[in-house]
Amino acid sequence: MEFTSIVGTQLRPSRIGLGTWAIGGLEWGGHDDEAALATIRRAFDAGINVIDTAPIYGEGHAEEVVGKALKGWRDRVMLATKAGLEWHGNGEVSRNASAARIYKELDASLRRLQTDYVDVYLVHWPDDRTPMEETALAMAGLFKSGKIRAIGVSNFSPAQMQEFARYAPLHVVQPPYNIFETAAARDVLPYAQSHELCAFTYSALCRGLLSGTMTRETVFHGDDVRLTDPKFQQPRFDHYLDAVARLDAIARERFGKRVIHLALRWLLDSPAVGVALWGARKPHQLGPIDGAFDFQVDDDLRKTIVDIVTEEVPDPIGPDFLAPPLATRS
Ligand SMILES: NC(=O)c1ccc[n+]([C@@H]2O[C@H](COP(=O)([O-])OP(=O)(O)OC[C@H]3O[C@@H](n4cnc5c(N)ncnc54)[C@H](OP(=O)(O)O)[C@@H]3O)[C@@H](O)[C@H]2O)c1
Repeated sequence: MEFTSIVGTQLRPSRIGLGTWAIGGLEWGGHDDEAALATIRRAFDAGINVIDTAPIYGEGHAEEVVGKALKGWRDRVMLATKAGLEWHGNGEVSRNASAARIYKELDASLRRLQTDYVDVYLVHWPDDRTPMEETALAMAGLFKSGKIRAIGVSNFSPAQMQEFARYAPLHVVQPPYNIFETAAARDVLPYAQSHELCAFTYSALCRGLLSGTMTRETVFHGDDVRLTDPKFQQPRFDHYLDAVARLDAIARERFGKRVIHLALRWLLDSPAVGVALWGARKPHQLGPIDGAFDFQVDDDLRKTIVDIVTEEVPDPIGPDFLAPPLATRS
């Protein structure tokens, strides 16, 4: 495992973190808690010390599972969770990063996680109905109190981060980033680098596309987000799968690796990436982890990867569909 640091804190996160969105079950076709607990333990065994979760993942369920898994491990684990999304019981989600909501969410998260502090606490999405000053001052107060050990923002633009940082220390930024979703490289990641923020980038495998295990026959079930994710709809799905096949061929020819190793190494060799968040919910899915540390993706290969994606995916699309609607409360 490789490790990094979060400037302004004592935290030393592993460069691969386990994401628990799918462990929550909601939007992922259901949950299997036993498999999830075994996955988290497998992650610890592999040297991962970052667990990224959020209240919204399974509407509290992911945090509850993480809380159970943390027993006996709490002091060795860097727990990241979030605030700022509100769910209404009918599948509707809205943004709410008001101070009152943040305090209420932190109390609920601490209860579910069975702990009395959070290592990295993030605002999940910017909320344009709440003054940034209010959100940031609430986070700053929690940091000062010791209930949270680092402050982060997710899905924020550089302008929003700049505004936030007028009122609170900022340590971590969490944008989407993977071989197919590179928009953060244009603005968010350069901002993070120049302001010494640790980037916890999400969707390392582009929601499983870069695992190399999908085919055009792959079927998703129930409320699985990939039934609506535009990347997984034809003809685009085929285009992405063709790109994955070529990336897999390169990984095999050059390194004796597979596309999943390439996708992880590509992130780890990006100077802007601190921690790559990899979502897994079955222990065997973490099997490839050891293969991500003994080779390098240099600038030439990065360029080749861009060429492959450009050639195979004529109509690329980002993760914008993930954005929850702006706050709906009056
Ligand atoms: N801040 C935000 O707004 C935000 C947004 C999204 C994600 N995140 C965080 O980032 C984490 C990672 O992102 P992500 O969950 O979107 O996606 P990801 O890491 O791109 O993909 C996760 C999915 O890929 C599949 N997978 C993983 N390893 C595999 C393997 N070895 N073989 C085959 N399939 C494999 C699994 O799906 P199946 O089990 O269905 O096969 C898994 O649930 C999340 O869990 C969450 O903590 C944050």
